[in-house]
Amino acid sequence: MWSGPWKRNKEVSSAQIDRGRIPRHIAIIMDGNGRWAIRRGLPRSLGHKAGVEALRGVVKACSGLGVEYLTVYAFSTENWRRPKEEVGILMNLLTEYLRRELRELDENDVVIRAVGQIEHLPAEARTELARAFEQTKSNRGLVLNLALNYGGRAELVGAVQGICRDVQGGRLKPAEIDENVVDRYLYTAGIPDPDLLIRTSGEMRLSNFLLWQCAYTEMVVVRDYWPDFDEEALLQAIRAYQRRNRRFGGLANE
Ligand code: IPE
Ligand code: IPE
Ligand code: MG
Repeated sequence: MWSGPWKRNKEVSSAQIDRGRIPRHIAIIMDGNGRWAIRRGLPRSLGHKAGVEALRGVVKACSGLGVEYLTVYAFSTENWRRPKEEVGILMNLLTEYLRRELRELDENDVVIRAVGQIEHLPAEARTELARAFEQTKSNRGLVLNLALNYGGRAELVGAVQGICRDVQGGRLKPAEIDENVVDRYLYTAGIPDPDLLIRTSGEMRLSNFLLWQCAYTEMVVVRDYWPDFDEEALLQAIRAYQRRNRRFGGLANE
């Protein structure tokens, strides 16, 4: 069935969600901050600021629903192409978010992790990330996986390099390389593939996000710009997911 961007029409309450089939792993391409701001006659930076607030709400909602992993695309390897000023604003917002939210996230049992080349982020952001990883590593609740300086292709290149190093060092035989081995060389090693991928602002593309991991992920594209994406929108996306028939190349169950 065609399921293009859908408009939010009626309210979905959490009672309409099948609690037994909550996606274990939700991935989100948080897109549209700039357009949200421009539409209001505001600078793009205020769109990013509003985007951080939307993230707070969605993290809280996912945590309450019992989602195990939430991977959010916050900065891509291609986002460095933006004006230096905007990149700086995004990096400062990341640092501020971690400084401001760490305590509450920790108190709510959230585990903070990251995927991407975080070694290339500014020093203050790296310091806050290291603190967040350390402080939350033993928590048992939602894993909030921040995709920072993340690119699916860069991740695959890194995996190929890692595999080659291990083959060269005699730790791995080429014949042993299968899909599970490749998985182990990705940033997401040990994390199940996303069940549901949400993209806001209506764009129908992956923009280099989780290329390997999304092979059989259910996609939901919503028209809302990211700052407008709230718990209600999340519940709608989960409802849409729960109506899908996941076949993984096999035959329908019904
Ligand atoms: C998403 O919003 C945030 C990042 C990519 C960092 P955008 O900044 O891409 O907003 P639009 O797509 O230009 O509206
Ligand atoms: C994807 O959004 C990256 C993030 C949300 C961090 P972009 O706005 O960068 O993607 P394109 O350029 O529209 O494909
Ligand atoms: Mg965008």
